[in-house]
Formats: sequence, structure tokens, C-alpha cells
Amino acid sequence: MAEKVRVGVLISGRGSNFVALEEWNRRGDRAYEIALVASNDPDARGLMAAKIFGLRIWAKSHKGMERAAFDMLMDAELRRHNVQVLALAGYMRLLSPEFIRAWEGRILNIHPSLLPAYKGLDTHRRAIEAGESFAGCSVHVVTEELDDGPVLAQAKLRIRPNETPEILAQRVLKEEHRIYPEALDTFCRTLRGEAQPTISSDLKK
Ligand code: GRF
Repeated sequence: MAEKVRVGVLISGRGSNFVALEEWNRRGDRAYEIALVASNDPDARGLMAAKIFGLRIWAKSHKGMERAAFDMLMDAELRRHNVQVLALAGYMRLLSPEFIRAWEGRILNIHPSLLPAYKGLDTHRRAIEAGESFAGCSVHVVTEELDDGPVLAQAKLRIRPNETPEILAQRVLKEEHRIYPEALDTFCRTLRGEAQPTISSDLKK
């Protein structure tokens, strides 16, 4: 059996996408395993779940540190755990260009919009206010430009009449939890040479 790809998950908060990645991993024969959960906030809620799962954790506050210096520490820790691929899951801190270059093509992110539309924050409110018919989420490869980089998977939802950003966010989050594990698994299978790179998009009513 091929070895599993060792994934480092980076979180800053709630960590529901990280939980989805680990739960999905435990439900079948996946191409990845989570080798380390790293956080720039030692109080991040998601770290509790990581402890319960019995995963390895590295948590350190970035406060008072230069971005590149913090990233170098994190990089050393990821390498110490032989991490091969990174999955950003609500990691709310920009990564330094040096760090991104060092992991080029091996960092994935989940973003709550139909990229390339609505990069940045507050995506659901902006989409509703602009009168969009659809919202959704995207898994993409991280490049030096924020929320840019090739899209690997998307889920698309129709925005309902009078829908609030909060309700839309809940509906989209469910889709994030569905597409991120699959996209990460496919990405890792591709790395192992088992799968063709695919771009998937689907429309939910
Ligand atoms: C999600 O909406 C994700 O798309 C965005 O940050 C949020 C993280 O949520 N990048 P969680 O920490 O995974 O619950």
C-alpha cells in the first residue's frame, strides 16, 4: 500500500474544516494523514479537537514577531514532522512570500467564495449586497497573491431571497466540509501519481 501523504493543517480559530478533514480521513482509506496541526493562536478552538483526536500540535502566538521569523519557526516544525503538504483551514494570517515559495505548489486553502470572485474577507455579505444569484466556496492552491492560484474544486449554492450573510455562511460551510477533504485527498493521490488533476464544480439548489 502506498504511503500516506503527510499533511500539516494550519488553523487560527474554530477549526471546523480541520475537523472535517480528519473525520473524513478516519472514514475510509485516504491518501493523506494529518501529521501536525499548527496554529498562530494557542487559544484557537480547533486545537481542542486536535487534542481529542490525539494529533500532534504546534501552537505559538505570532504576536510581537516578524512575519518571516514566525513563518521560519513554523516551517522548521512542519519539516521536523516530515510534512509534505499544507492545508490552510481558517488560517487568518498572511504567509510570508519566503514561506510560500518554500512550499510552492503544496499549499491548499479553502475560501468561502466562488473564486476568482470575492477574494478577502466578508465574502457572503459582499455577494448578497452585490445582488449575486450564487455563492459558494473554493479549494485552491496558494500562491503569493491573496486568494489566488489554481482552483481545484468548487461548490456553488443559489442565494435565497432575503438570505442573511450568517445563514448563507452556515450553508456554505457545510459545502466546505464536503469538498475540502475530497479535494485534499485527490491532490495527495495526484502527488502519489494515482489520480489525474481535476477541476470539479457543482451546483446545489
Ligand atoms: C471558513 O469559512 C473558510 O472558508 C475560511 O475561514 C473559515 C474557517 O472556518 N478560510 P473553520 O475555522 O474551518 O471553522
